[in-house]
Amino acid sequence: MTDFDLIVRRARLWTDHLSAAVDVGIVGDRIMAIEPHLTNTAPVEIDAAEKMVSAPFVESHIHLDSAMTVGEPRWNESGTLFEGIRIWGERKQSLTSEDVQARAIAALKAQASQGVLFVRTHADVSEATLTALKSLLAVREAVRDWVTVQVVAFPQDGLYGSPRNEGLMEEAIALGVDVIGGIPHYELTREDGVRSVERLFELAIQHDRLIDLHCDEIDDEQSRFLEVMAACTLRSGLGDRVTASHTTAFGSYNNAYATKLMGTLRRAQLNIIANPLINITLQGRGDTYPKRRGITRVKELWQNGINVSLGNDCIQDPWYALGTGNMLDPASMAIHACHMTGRAEMEACYDMVTRHGAKTLHVGDRYGLEVGKPANLICLDAIDPYDALRRRATVTQVISRGHLLAQTQPPQCQWHGA
Ligand code: FE2
Repeated sequence: MTDFDLIVRRARLWTDHLSAAVDVGIVGDRIMAIEPHLTNTAPVEIDAAEKMVSAPFVESHIHLDSAMTVGEPRWNESGTLFEGIRIWGERKQSLTSEDVQARAIAALKAQASQGVLFVRTHADVSEATLTALKSLLAVREAVRDWVTVQVVAFPQDGLYGSPRNEGLMEEAIALGVDVIGGIPHYELTREDGVRSVERLFELAIQHDRLIDLHCDEIDDEQSRFLEVMAACTLRSGLGDRVTASHTTAFGSYNNAYATKLMGTLRRAQLNIIANPLINITLQGRGDTYPKRRGITRVKELWQNGINVSLGNDCIQDPWYALGTGNMLDPASMAIHACHMTGRAEMEACYDMVTRHGAKTLHVGDRYGLEVGKPANLICLDAIDPYDALRRRATVTQVISRGHLLAQTQPPQCQWHGA
């Protein structure tokens, strides 16, 4: 009889459906049994009480280098992306390694305590000392026992925004980033934008890295770098190693062009990440009424079989003053802003902050509720994804690599009557 180190009892597992109640037996850092009832005991036992147990949340898009800097040196009064870039340009002059690492680890702890155990963070690589990048690479190692962090080299000011930036990108790759980033819609000209996408694909192939570009994060219906990314993906054969983040202009394209583009995306099979919390506030700022929602076509992409995941993007920084890192928040905003209120659509939004994010991050073999996989799982105070989303349910237990990492009591109201 196997000796388990930890057993989660009476768990209803959410994979693509809800299972009957089972016991999950963990040995070391692995799930070793999933059975209706384990007769063994373990030093640590958790009673899930027939509530929902899920694979962990995946934060597929966040900027940990700027997290928790809101108001430094000033508030973003216009609420636009571009004022945010200017404020960050000032704040990043005073970055130190201690400063970045302390804020990044605080943000990761906030997320992990809410069930996030896989995180893809962008690191600004357009300041000369690469302080943000080096700090986040150090954080990636410091936290690896409890959360998996991927670092994207993100040229915030454009690959060709200054003559030194391309060299900084190459230096960042040499330092060991997981993913190559970019921002074609922010380059000085459309031609620079196209050239940047092509160069970033070359670098990704040369250095065997994933790609995740900020793409068309603008209301300009003429911003069409997603088609360039899709073409590069098709021609290179990189497929789902490529991700386009934001793609908010897709919400502004005319339907004739959007239909053609959707066909190309279906063929290319790259991933899309939407960040609905921030983009519903950043975008549409130049509109009168009606104001656009500023979010990519999440529902239609999902209906077309494209892998879509959702991110927070920011926690209290120059672009988004709010945020706690809870993945149920972007999922809830997607449900509202993308008209995904059908039952299957809500469940899809839950999948977009869990297993679809895992697919984007390419952590498939390390993710999932199956015997033999690493024991990363979360217990929720909810009976199913719909219930979790509606009530922003508390993640009551977070199990990371077989260890109980965090526990949270759901809030309780003491009703005293009239
Ligand atoms: Fe972003």
